[in-house]
This record gives sequence, structure tokens and C-alpha cells, in this order.
Amino acid sequence: MKDAKELITIKRDGGTYSEQEIQEIVTGITQGSWADYQVSAWLMAVFIRGLNPSETAYLTLAMARSGETLPLATLPKPWVDKHSTGGVGDKTTIVLLPLLAACGLTMVKMSGKGLGITGGTIDKLSTVPGMNLDLTPEEMVDQAARIGLALTGQTPRLAPADKTLYSLRDVTATVPSLPLITSSILSKKIAGGAETVILDVKCGSGAFMKSLPEAGALAESLVRVGTLAGLRVRAVVTDMSQPLGRSVGNALEVKEAIRVLKGDLVGRFPELCLALATEVLEDVGVADPATKARQALTNGAALKKAKEWFGAQGASLAVFETEEWETAPVQEPVLAQKAGWIGKVDAEAVGLLAMSLGGGRKKKEDVIDGRVGIEVLAAVGDEVSQGQPLFVIHAADQETGRQASQEIEAAVTIANHPVEQIPVVYSSLDFQAFA
Ligand code: URA
Repeated sequence: MKDAKELITIKRDGGTYSEQEIQEIVTGITQGSWADYQVSAWLMAVFIRGLNPSETAYLTLAMARSGETLPLATLPKPWVDKHSTGGVGDKTTIVLLPLLAACGLTMVKMSGKGLGITGGTIDKLSTVPGMNLDLTPEEMVDQAARIGLALTGQTPRLAPADKTLYSLRDVTATVPSLPLITSSILSKKIAGGAETVILDVKCGSGAFMKSLPEAGALAESLVRVGTLAGLRVRAVVTDMSQPLGRSVGNALEVKEAIRVLKGDLVGRFPELCLALATEVLEDVGVADPATKARQALTNGAALKKAKEWFGAQGASLAVFETEEWETAPVQEPVLAQKAGWIGKVDAEAVGLLAMSLGGGRKKKEDVIDGRVGIEVLAAVGDEVSQGQPLFVIHAADQETGRQASQEIEAAVTIANHPVEQIPVVYSSLDFQAFA
């Protein structure tokens, strides 16, 4: 058994850990025998020297076993989970979970809160009156047994090592490390019990990974390590250079997701939901997956499942009947200054504005306003006429609404010539590549 200093020295000097050494590190971190300054030094050594895929898989498994694992054994297979690396306007989980549960899959998911411009599913669903997002592992399993799906916020009972590591990474400039991101994401998936996992790796100004090579490298790391750790994993690189769909803002995004569940399949957001659902259904061996996914949204099955889900977690089903809930008092349209073709709608700029309206957090402690946000009425490549609404700002008061409506002009460009649309999905990589 080596002590913390010896284990840090190995990586500082460019060495490679054994499975046993990685286990000792994670045990030291979880049981508190390592001081925060030792964990921080270790994180920096890993950040600089890296971990190879086997070391990252050992780390992932040790982190996954650092707490409880959801006992899904009594539930019908396949057990599926979904994760997005985070983006602006990303409400995909709210559609994908009931859609896949309606196709017979068991969907059990832990979701996070948003931080910075990347929103979190928990914040979005928190706007739904009555919705309980704090389920115990027992409640998760029980609900999934009854209706095929359950979603909760992060519980410290699952993968507690990630909680400790993430909070230190956040303050030691060690977040953007491929092995650390990979083990952080996958350990929570494994602790959540899933066997099949779809990872939506966002790419563009509104995402963690700004370029295709960066996003591709993360996708490859996730699939390679996930496969080594025994998961059936697929990573899909998808666009986040412009906001996803027609809204950014917590309640606005839930309303948009409900419209898709009701069968409104026009635009980039339903296209992404259908693409991801098709990939998952194909991976678990469902015949004719694209048709099955589309049918679940057009024949009311996904909507019915969503109502069962919201009802099981205590939510008011009135949100499916009307959009008059959690509505901001001020709504300010922003019009196109000239005719032409949309050349850019900068996801990062729109995300920052949604935050400045009160819809996101700069610090973990910040309180958000679920009502505010931005409707995004144009996408790159759309032809627009002068005076056509491009955005609607939803604000808590006149002043912030007016200011945001001026600032958002810088987020959009209108070209004098036709502009090509940006693909929704760039690439997809699955476990078979590394099997
Ligand atoms: N999401 C996670 O869960 N962990 C990371 O390290 C980065 C994104």
C-alpha cells in the first residue's frame, strides 16, 4: 500500500498506475485520508501527464464503486441512460426519456443543475409545479419498475468520489482534462446502473468543446473507456454553435419539449431527439428504429409516458394543457434589421444573455428565475425579411428586457447571400469500434 505522496510522485514523473494503485487513490480520496492539497496536486499531475485508456477505465470503475450502485436487477432490460456534455437550449432529456420508455426501454437517469451558460435538466424541470426531483435510489428503482422511467438530481449516495474530485477540479484549473472528464461522466453512468449509454457530445461556441477535433477526441475517449469499463456506449457529436431549438430558458424549454412530445416535429430540436432515439433503439436491437422513434412521438405514446412520469414525480399535469405557467411578465420581440439569410446565431452569446436575464447561475449558490429566457425564432441558413421577429426576450422587468433586446443583436448576423444550414449531428461512434 503506497501513501499519497508516493502515488502522486508516480504520475508527476510520467509513470503508469496499476489497477490496485488507482483503487488506493480513489479510496484515499473518498475516505478522506488524502488532504485536499494532495488531491489537488494529484489532479494537476493527471492534468499534465494524462492517463492512458486502461488507467482511465480503472479510475472510472473505482469512482463508480465509491458509493452505492442503483440495483436495477429486478427491472426489465435494456437499461439505458443518456448524458449530454451540456449546451444552450438543450432540453433533449425531457423528450428522449419518455420517448424511449414508450418504446419499452427502462430509462433511469441522474441529471445535473446548470452552471454557466450550459443549462441543466434539473433546473428546467424544477419550473414544473410540484415536480419532485429528489428521489432516493429506492424510489428511483420503484418508479422505474412501475412506469419504465425515473429521473432525479444528483445524489451523494452514487459516485461520491466524483463530487469530491469535481469540486476540487473546479478551483484548481483541472476541469478540461480528457481522462478526468471521461471518468467523471462514465462513473456516474455506471453507478446509475445502466448498461447501454448514449452520450451527446456537444460541439461549438455554446459547449465545453468548441471545435470538432476537441469534441471528436472526447467522444473517442468516452467510447473507448466506456467499452473497457463494460458499457455498451455510443457517443454522438452534435452541433452547439447555435442554440438548440426554439428556446433558451428553463420553463420555456420545458414548454418546447412538451410541444415535441405532442408531435410538433418541425426544426432542429425534434430532429436531434429522433436521431438520438434511433441510435439507441438500433443499439438495443429494435427493428426499424427510425420509424419506431417517430411513431412514438406522432401516435401519442411518448406523451402518455411523459404524463405518467410527471404524475409519478408529483407534477401538475396542467403543464400539458396550457403554456400559461411560469411566464415572465415582459416579452420583447427583436426584429431583423434587414432582409437576408441568417449567417450566425451565436450559442455562447445567447446563453450569456439568458444568464444575465436571471435564467442561469454564475456561482453554484445563485438562485435562478425559471420564467425568463429567449425564444430563438431563426436558425442558420433561414431566409428572413426585414422586420421579421428573430427572438422574443422573456424578462422579469422592462429594463432587463430592453437591455437584452439591444445586446442580442450582436449574437446574430444576416448575410446578403444564401447560407448553408449547419448539420444537427456531425458524427457517431459506438462500442463496436473498440470491441
Ligand atoms: N460533466 C461531468 O459530469 N463531468 C465533467 O468533468 C465534465 C462534464
